[in-house]
Amino acid sequence: MIDFPKDFFWGAATSSYQVEGANYNADWWEWEQRVGLAERSQDACRHYELFRQDFDIAQNLRHTAHRFSIEWSRIEPKKGEFSQEALQHYIEVVKDLRHRGIEPIVTLHHFTNPFWFASLGGWLNPKSVGYFINYVQRIISSLAGEVRFWVTINEPVVYIYQGYISGSWPPQKRSLGLARRVMANLKAAHIQAYQLIHDFYRQKNLPRPWVSIAHNMRVFIPCNPNLKNRIAVAIRDRGFNQIFLESLLKRGFLDYIGLNYYSRDLVDIENWRWSSLLFSICEKGHSNLPRNYLGWEIFPEGIFILLERLKKYNLPIFILENGICTNDDSQRWEFIRQHLQQVHRAMQQGANVLGYIYWSLLDNFEWDRGFGPRFGLVEVDYKTFARRVRPSAYKFSEVCATGRLD
Ligand code: GAL
Repeated sequence: MIDFPKDFFWGAATSSYQVEGANYNADWWEWEQRVGLAERSQDACRHYELFRQDFDIAQNLRHTAHRFSIEWSRIEPKKGEFSQEALQHYIEVVKDLRHRGIEPIVTLHHFTNPFWFASLGGWLNPKSVGYFINYVQRIISSLAGEVRFWVTINEPVVYIYQGYISGSWPPQKRSLGLARRVMANLKAAHIQAYQLIHDFYRQKNLPRPWVSIAHNMRVFIPCNPNLKNRIAVAIRDRGFNQIFLESLLKRGFLDYIGLNYYSRDLVDIENWRWSSLLFSICEKGHSNLPRNYLGWEIFPEGIFILLERLKKYNLPIFILENGICTNDDSQRWEFIRQHLQQVHRAMQQGANVLGYIYWSLLDNFEWDRGFGPRFGLVEVDYKTFARRVRPSAYKFSEVCATGRLD
């Protein structure tokens, strides 16, 4: 039996594009049609209209926090034209959560951009930071009073990797030079949003906000500790886990560390080529770990390793995503249970963790992988949009209610 602190936050996350549906002013929407993605987001989970019903479920499951994102392309469907209706929607969302006693954790950018923004070069445009800040300003002045926890940008390094290095997501570029430019702009966007939020709260005499990014970290483990593998691990760890985070930490622009954790990579490289150093993983069947529906290894100890590593920065850590896609719901509960054990173990050893947010509340649109992977505590029937709470959700709910894991 293990006990978590009384004020620990428990909940689940979503992101606008993955659950709302009909986000036809977003760059992803245009991209899905243009490349003919096999499964398109379409109505997704219809969460935009059904959010109250979904929050009923979260409340019944005794969640005390909920992470969601605001869809910039709804707020500003055309450059400089802001939608009062969309702003009002998110005001209602936040009020509804507060009314239920659920702490809102609000993400300002979760992978998608307005189509107009992408057409102007997206995050490569030197003006991109200014455009983003203009949008952030509207959000902050509408929601500041009700929100304490902000996430400026979700997984900046994943966004850069998928869009500008592997090229599997829009805008499908493959260039380290472009990736570097996008990284600089995303850093600046975070820093300016951070300052704007803090200035606003100060001027309005609001309690100090908590502002961060949601940072995806992976554990890289050499398959065998030969020189090539150790070098590859060092490069990946630096590029994926450290560079972005440390540059914000050094300059004091994070109030807490938002951690997203899913899996590990067993690194085994064939030769000294860059592609091998950066991407090769062990194909020799050396791992006997169970995997999720997408083939990612399930490695609960990884969350302990990362929390241990993050301790040195002396900031509170909020686990903003951790989850599994599977068709076997008992595997989902096992995943949660084992990860929570590791979180608790790290806390015993001094990690200051504020809460645990499971990805995701609902089954949803898993980007280029479509609707196949099911991450939800709650199953969604994509024909009827009916929700069905899974057994794992009830098990997790007991932990949320008692702070205790048997
Ligand atoms: C994260 C991302 C989410 C979700 C999840 C599962 O990287 O923030 O949007 O898709 O992974 O793959």
